[in-house]
Amino acid sequence: MSLYGVVADIHGNREALAAVLAALEARGVGRLACLGDIVGYNADPDECAAALRGLGAISIAGNHDLIGLGRLDFRRCSNKAKYSLKRTRRALAPETRAYLATLPGRLELEPGVVLVHGGVRDVQQYMTTPAHIAQNAAWLREDFPGAGLCFFGHSHEQKIYEVDDHGAVQELPAAKEFAFRKDRLYFVNPGSVDASRKQRHKLAECALLDTGCGTIEFLRVPYDAAATEVKAAAFGYRIDPLTDRLYSFQRRLRRAASALLRA
Ligand SMILES: [Fe+2]
Ligand SMILES: [Fe+2]
Repeated sequence: MSLYGVVADIHGNREALAAVLAALEARGVGRLACLGDIVGYNADPDECAAALRGLGAISIAGNHDLIGLGRLDFRRCSNKAKYSLKRTRRALAPETRAYLATLPGRLELEPGVVLVHGGVRDVQQYMTTPAHIAQNAAWLREDFPGAGLCFFGHSHEQKIYEVDDHGAVQELPAAKEFAFRKDRLYFVNPGSVDASRKQRHKLAECALLDTGCGTIEFLRVPYDAAATEVKAAAFGYRIDPLTDRLYSFQRRLRRAASALLRA
């Protein structure tokens, strides 16, 4: 029974991570859980990995971490992600690579509390609809019998879904504080620490999990988003329009070639 800070999708954003860690420290959080995508998109992957390592965070690997290591390819990446991950692969320090290589794909934080990055069985799945949650709830019950909470990231939005005994899914408002029932299953996305790809706001997101009191609280904190953006552009993490068009053309070419091979 503990008070955890739950973070996801840091994406090399040092400023946002610092803001979130300060907010969690102010709330007396002693343990940190991370849902992966520590690197990618922004210019400080090594610093973010070192901060998590130094705090003894309990972390799993996201698809960006696996792509950064070369364990996954770029096929399911957007152009922006592919470009920044090519840069990330060149930038990663050996100790960061070694750290990322130790991270499991999913784990049980404490009995009944599971951490995954995308879907329960697919690190690159976006769980964005009640149908996705229903399918993954069935997999979770097979893979982690008795789990009552599943924290997931990857889709970068603060979300909470409740699943009843019959598998019916209801999305609940990601209210500031939420008391969960022990006889239900919940899928919870704490949001993304990195807000560089968000249009709506530039706030770093995370959650507080109190397994003793049975509550989850969603946090949003301001950070110096302009500084992150300037650095990402200066260090080659932002795709230029020409490369963007080139990647799109290459993708169409690959699709056409595989359609021809199937015909
Ligand atoms: Fe992500
Ligand atoms: Fe991801």
